[in-house]
Amino acid sequence: MLAACSMGLGTCPIGFARPWLNQARIKRSLGIPDDYVPVFPVVVGHPSGEMPPVQRRAPEIFIWL
Ligand SMILES: Cc1cc2nc3c(=O)[nH]c(=O)nc-3n(C[C@H](O)[C@H](O)[C@H](O)COP(=O)(O)O)c2cc1C
Repeated sequence: MLAACSMGLGTCPIGFARPWLNQARIKRSLGIPDDYVPVFPVVVGHPSGEMPPVQRRAPEIFIWL
């Protein structure tokens, strides 16, 4: 995803697609070998525009002693 971003592409992981991608008939139709298990589907595309920076919360750091 970082490599795609560096090439100006946008990505989004689609965990929802994992069970679908692991069906035998889908793997066959996409040419995915039987012994391969898709674990992290990611869609890749050309962003429609400039994305604003994402708001981030400051990290919360907990220490248990
Ligand atoms: C393991 C994983 C699975 C995800 N699956 C989906 C998905 O099925 N559909 C979707 O729209 N976004 C999915 N996302 C994207 C998240 O909804 C979210 O947009 C992305 O993680 C960016 O937000 P964050 O920076 O707060 O993590 C997934 C993200 C991760 C890390």
